[in-house]
Amino acid sequence: MGKLENKEDKTKKMKKTKKTAAKTVKVVKKAKTKTEKPAVVNENVFSQRLHKHYDELKWLYCELYQDDKQPLVHFDELMKKIKEFYIARPNYLKALDIEREQQPDWYKGNKLLGMMMYVNCFSGTLKNFEKRLPYIQESNVNYLHLMPLLSSPKGKSDGGYAVADFRSVQEDLGTMKDLENLAEKCHENGISVCLDFVMNHTSDEHEWARKARSGDKEYQDRYFFFDDYSMPELFERDCPQVFPTTAPGNFTYLSDINKFVMTTFYPYQWDLDYRNPVVFNEMVYNMLFLVNQGIDIIRLDAVPYIWKQLGTNCRNLPQVHTIVRMMRMISEIVSPAVLLLGEVVMAPDKVVPYFGTPEKPECHMLYNVTTMATTWHTVATRDTALIKHQMDILSSLPKQYIFQNYLRCHDDIGWGLDYDFLRQFGIDEVAHKKYLNDFFTGKVPGSFGIGELYNDDERLKDARLCGTTASLCGIEYYDKLKDKDGIERSIQLDLMLHAFMLSQSGIPVIYSGDEIGQYNDYSYKEDEDADKRADSRYVHRGVFNWRKAGRRKIKTAIQAKIYQNLAKMEKIRSSYDVFKADADMYTLPTWEKSTLAVVRETAQERFIGLYNFSENEQMAWINETDGLYTELLTDTKDFKAAGIKMAPYSCLWLWRKK
Ligand code: GLC
Repeated sequence: MGKLENKEDKTKKMKKTKKTAAKTVKVVKKAKTKTEKPAVVNENVFSQRLHKHYDELKWLYCELYQDDKQPLVHFDELMKKIKEFYIARPNYLKALDIEREQQPDWYKGNKLLGMMMYVNCFSGTLKNFEKRLPYIQESNVNYLHLMPLLSSPKGKSDGGYAVADFRSVQEDLGTMKDLENLAEKCHENGISVCLDFVMNHTSDEHEWARKARSGDKEYQDRYFFFDDYSMPELFERDCPQVFPTTAPGNFTYLSDINKFVMTTFYPYQWDLDYRNPVVFNEMVYNMLFLVNQGIDIIRLDAVPYIWKQLGTNCRNLPQVHTIVRMMRMISEIVSPAVLLLGEVVMAPDKVVPYFGTPEKPECHMLYNVTTMATTWHTVATRDTALIKHQMDILSSLPKQYIFQNYLRCHDDIGWGLDYDFLRQFGIDEVAHKKYLNDFFTGKVPGSFGIGELYNDDERLKDARLCGTTASLCGIEYYDKLKDKDGIERSIQLDLMLHAFMLSQSGIPVIYSGDEIGQYNDYSYKEDEDADKRADSRYVHRGVFNWRKAGRRKIKTAIQAKIYQNLAKMEKIRSSYDVFKADADMYTLPTWEKSTLAVVRETAQERFIGLYNFSENEQMAWINETDGLYTELLTDTKDFKAAGIKMAPYSCLWLWRKK
């Protein structure tokens, strides 16, 4: 069994980090005074890292930009600039680089717990966020994903995913200095910070876009500009749409200059053309600027879309992997403390390649999107066949693949399930998607979900779903009915889903508000911004309710029932080595379709997670004869892991030392 990390340990660790940082500063200072070796210590570190990757980086760069007139000129400029970013990197981050380089698996254990939030919803401003850090720590969270906070035009922001300036923060939230200070404060408290790097497009108000619009050819070449619709028409033949109802089509006509520009997402999000090496270089500088503010994890937003080619679906093309691999190498050279998190919301076979290979890694982490969607499918069907199959697939993947596990995030749930598998049970994709959406929008008799549809395109029959965990689990529904049993049952479901998520291999990330069972927020429907009114994802992007959060300490309150139980699970997860990502994992048959049994195993420990996805009592017909277990959630000793009767929506965490 691992040890609970207490506050003292953490403080010691913090002091240690500070000491290391101080040491580095000293070395640098000393070096400056010694005429014979000024800053040589630094240079060595940089050149060693550069040396490791130089040949491959140059090769990939020249191959990708072979059609450019002067690829080497751009490459040399890139090399010069990345060194400048290395030099400018604050000493405390350089110290962290070295620390994490020495412990490259620092993020792979069972100690990281994430939470994602919008700063405006959570604390109003970046400065106020600091005051909320005690809450973050009380919630056992040590990894924060701050939703997009860079400059983005009001009314045309796509929740901050239309960036007008990668080097400044949205005015309402504060300044870049505030972000830097917050990141430093987080580091002092052992918290890592993740920020989106929206690299597929810029806002149409970005300086480049404005120059392009004013006719500057150099800047038009950073986007996809066309004089007439003939090329866009050809692209549209093979390129599916991301927002078929809220922003149909992949191109936007700019009437003022009589040109078409490629816009895969909203019309005001202009796709960058990475065939232009200047675009790659400049975007790399933007990324390095952000990591030098103290960002630990860079979320590569919409990364599968960054390379476009006529005659393809413009997703996951080989060049995307070249670019991600180059970014990984550059990050390892300049800021090895930093992790790349790929946002690859694609079919499973398209996701895994973004890890790259052990010799040539790309992303450090990827979203476990299929498991997330499959979990909700299991809630609606009470049938664990598909989730069991999914867990079996995951357990066969190499252990170094680190997934980010989650139940909800700021986006919709797309029903990207394994329909080939479901087909053997006679399940048809279109009809099933409709069933799932009906279930979670309360249209199926007996269902309790209050969700909203997203991009419900009648033609494609591919609507997606929005809503908070608590609302999809029925807590909001039964609360409105004042149905106490219903509320309790839904809380159980909410907790069971979190328990399942927390016991998966990888890094769990809680969606802010879910820890107190926050409901949907319908106020977006009256927003002055028309784009927002049309975008049902805002139903789960409500302002964090601090008043309700206060109720997490009142034992009988819904908030406390969720918060306290989650906290217990989180502490257990970080205390037992069996939750580390490199534990073996496999499923057991339970001979009852609503129950699921997932084993985690190390040389010393064995864990069986049991989950009942049904609102009725069910049996889990396992029969483990290796000895008695402890049920960790209730601390029940001498538990026999055989023929277990499970209460509605219950879960058990059985554990034993071998
Ligand atoms: C990502 C974001 C999503 C955004 C899109 C366009 O998928 O998660 O919220 O709309 O990128 O930037």
